[in-house]
Amino acid sequence: MIKKINKHKTILSRRINHNSEEKRLLNLNNEFLTKIYSAYTQSIKNDFTQDELNSFSECEKYRNKLLQSEEVITYEIFNSDRTAIVKDICAKAASSKSWCRLLYSLVKNSNSEKIFEVGTNLGISGSYILHSIKGNPNSHFTTLEGQARFCEIAGEQFAKIIDKNKFSIYSGLYDDTFDKALSSVDKLHCAFIDGNHQYEPTLEYFNKIEPLIGDKGILLFDDINWSNGMKDVWKKIKQSPKIKYTIDLHEIGIAIIDRNNKSKKEDFAFHYSY
Ligand SMILES: C[S@@+](CC[C@H](N)C(=O)[O-])C[C@H]1O[C@@H](n2cnc3c(N)ncnc32)[C@H](O)[C@@H]1O
Repeated sequence: MIKKINKHKTILSRRINHNSEEKRLLNLNNEFLTKIYSAYTQSIKNDFTQDELNSFSECEKYRNKLLQSEEVITYEIFNSDRTAIVKDICAKAASSKSWCRLLYSLVKNSNSEKIFEVGTNLGISGSYILHSIKGNPNSHFTTLEGQARFCEIAGEQFAKIIDKNKFSIYSGLYDDTFDKALSSVDKLHCAFIDGNHQYEPTLEYFNKIEPLIGDKGILLFDDINWSNGMKDVWKKIKQSPKIKYTIDLHEIGIAIIDRNNKSKKEDFAFHYSY
């Protein structure tokens, strides 16, 4: 209850401060930051071309199919005897339509070609990412998931969107796959950290992914307010000298790298979605 009240207080204050925060951001006249911000405004306004809206409809058709699946999933890989049904997992774990739209737009507006995702799940966010990069001949998407059956389900969907050589899915616990997956990419433009939401692993992923980003890039962290550990790690990432700008959207935190920019660090906060 207290958590909910605090969330609503935060949303209210962000709404009140929106115009001044936007002005502060745009006044910096930083081209990359402005492009990232325009992904946010584009997604809020749902200002997309008909082709893009058609791609989103395809992704949502896939989501709706999963939301009807009664397939039972076991969790031996996580050393657990619990089971769950695909439709429930999809409802709980997959990013919502509005966050996926933002993800799509962030990848596109940052001109990201090489994308890395921690947390494939059933491939909902991955489908949006693939639609975003599918016209780019140099693009590649690497994603990691512990649950082998999720990898199969997501892989089948990904292959309907893009050529199989444009994506790689690493199946297995991150302790076993993260370093291997990361060593398969020589550079990155964007990473979406959406799995294993705890302080230590999230910091480790940040420390290992950040050096692979070139002059400019974005790191997206989901659930930055989900636990004290996630709040603390987001605070730590914000303070990193490697990060020039951050945009806190309460659920997702965007950390922006802009290595040749010598101006001072700035942090922004906006309301995006409930
Ligand atoms: C929140 S879901 C990802 C949702 C997905 N990005 C989307 O929006 O459609 C997180 C995923 O990370 C996986 N995961 C969590 N901890 C893991 C670990 N230590 N090793 C491997 N996979 C893990 C879970 O199985 C789950 O499918």
